[in-house]
Amino acid sequence: MALLVAEHVNKVYDAQASTQDGVQAINDLTFEASGHTFVCLVGPSGCGKSTFLNLVSGIEEPTSGTLSVSGDAARAKIGYVFQDPRLLPWRTVMDNMRYVHDDGDRKSREAKCLHYLDMVGLAHTASMYPNQLSGGMRQRIGIARALSIEPDLLLMDEPFSHLDAITARSMRTELQQLWQASAATVLFVTHDVNEAVQLSDRILMMNRGGTLYADIPINLPRPRLQTDRAVVTQQADVLALFEQMQLEPVTP
Ligand SMILES: Nc1ncnc2c1ncn2[C@@H]1O[C@H](COP(=O)(O)OP(=O)(O)O)[C@@H](O)[C@H]1O
Ligand SMILES: [Mg+2]
Repeated sequence: MALLVAEHVNKVYDAQASTQDGVQAINDLTFEASGHTFVCLVGPSGCGKSTFLNLVSGIEEPTSGTLSVSGDAARAKIGYVFQDPRLLPWRTVMDNMRYVHDDGDRKSREAKCLHYLDMVGLAHTASMYPNQLSGGMRQRIGIARALSIEPDLLLMDEPFSHLDAITARSMRTELQQLWQASAATVLFVTHDVNEAVQLSDRILMMNRGGTLYADIPINLPRPRLQTDRAVVTQQADVLALFEQMQLEPVTP
């Protein structure tokens, strides 16, 4: 589990030849998340969600403000699942799992890789290549690989948005089970309000310009199905707030 603290975080991208001004991607974002929580960042396209994950993972630096992640050990372990699972096509599934591991002895690394492949029901694909698998299977391997490092914090950037609706639906159910069996704090990015309500304990709703608009707790029993009445009701409420946000002018 991780403790994530963001205080007055700003990110401005420099002006490019094509644009006159720089882009304020994140605007004064402050929040804290910790423990075995599933947090969704939801917001319209371009509101800074991916930028925020890149700041948390250290791929990007904030322009101002502070951001810290601490874990159970001195250095927090961070797993990252992208929209595209980013498997190396010339390596087998097992080799794709292996290459994120560089600590511990070989035997325990192998056992961990196999354990997490098995958890997503894909142990039988260990010696196959990514192009022999469906999109859903590849994404499950991406998730298994991120979980296999046993991260304190798991970052997920729209991991199901490239999948067909039926596969995405079963992946949401599976992800809830995987997360409940793990100890990770999750920060999951989506532009889909319904997905956010089904998955999360808490929704951070972001607005255009990278501001935080609302912090909404979701206290529903798990596992949650897309068709659960309580889920559907809360989805309607959160969607109404989302629509209201989009009608309001953005305050700088
Ligand atoms: N590397 C970059 N250089 C310049 N502008 C960027 C860069 N990455 C993102 N942006 C801009 O920052 C804003 C937020 O982008 P992003 O974080 O990708 O949004 P989201 O993930 O919510 O769709 C957008 O206006 C985008 O064009
Ligand atoms: Mg994005």
